[in-house]
Amino acid sequence: MAEGRAGSPEADVPGVRISGALRRAARAMPRDCTFSGDDWRVLSRFWHPVAYCEEVTSQPVRAKLLDVDLVVYRTSAGVVVARDICLHRGAMLSLGHLEGDELVCAYHGWRYGPAGACTKIPSQPSGRRISPGIRLLTCPAREQHGLIWCCLAGEPTADLPAWPETSDPAFRQLHLAPQAWNTSAARQVENFLDVSHFAFVHRQTFGNAASTEIPPIPVQPTGSGLRYGFSYQAANPAGSPLGAAPAIGRETSYELTLPFAAKLTIAYPDKGPGARHVLIDVAQPVSAKSMRLYLLIARNFDPGVPARDLLSWEEKIVSQDRPIVESQRPEELPLDLGQELHVQADSMTIAYRRELARLGLGCGQ
Ligand code: FES
Ligand code: FE
Repeated sequence: MAEGRAGSPEADVPGVRISGALRRAARAMPRDCTFSGDDWRVLSRFWHPVAYCEEVTSQPVRAKLLDVDLVVYRTSAGVVVARDICLHRGAMLSLGHLEGDELVCAYHGWRYGPAGACTKIPSQPSGRRISPGIRLLTCPAREQHGLIWCCLAGEPTADLPAWPETSDPAFRQLHLAPQAWNTSAARQVENFLDVSHFAFVHRQTFGNAASTEIPPIPVQPTGSGLRYGFSYQAANPAGSPLGAAPAIGRETSYELTLPFAAKLTIAYPDKGPGARHVLIDVAQPVSAKSMRLYLLIARNFDPGVPARDLLSWEEKIVSQDRPIVESQRPEELPLDLGQELHVQADSMTIAYRRELARLGLGCGQ
């Protein structure tokens, strides 16, 4: 094939070059995309997680973000996130393997260096030039807060969130195993921001059945999201990692980072000044109706409580939310406020929907 033209015999080819049209097509919205075009373009400009750091090794793994198949792997130069497609014949690169720092496609053995450039085409005579345009379709990737983040559009519109507790040695660092939920990222995050479900969904854990009224909660915009606080007298049944008290006061502050990350800082005055339990909920929008949940935990008190007890308690709480959230219809969060009913206790979630709409999401709903 002569320089991207189909039909010419391979033997005539002095080199192999990728056409601009092929590269543009491979970077475009995925086939069978479940998002509207506007939503996909808005969301593709943000950082999103695609894996915990520990999941990514020198063995390529698959991830899916905004319906885009990705290959993720680690080289000595850092983590690589690229579209999971070989531009030669469209095979998934995640079926390949690494030799040294080079990704080797499983189909015909084309090799790609850590910066993405094709370094070898085994079927070509050795020494023949390889066009620098033959490259992996990489995305910017960052390793922070124990997660691998990437931005499909290349130029993120916002920085990664600053969560100092995730690198503070005074805090124990834990996280739940990743969970795939059948709901949208926005529905899952909204549930994390909602406080009026505690007395019902979490009645067997921290939910206080006698405390159902929610006072007015002022919600402040931060530029990158929202912030608000909430005082709560939580139940503390047997099995809780907080000790034997029948109830325990919590001073909580929520900080949302658009579009799909939220940090909850819980202060326990009974545990001493400065005692903090931090939960960070980050949702990977896999498709419009599926997401992957990462839950980070940072805690600076009661070091004697075993990690497995803390994790199993949080898993229990999350498992109470999950069937409710997965039952919600539509799976997508309605950003037109006329589509669901709202009361005073929904001020945070109303504000969240308005912030998402302000980004330009949901215009087609
Ligand atoms: Fe990857 Fe042919 S499809 S080398
Ligand atoms: Fe909940």
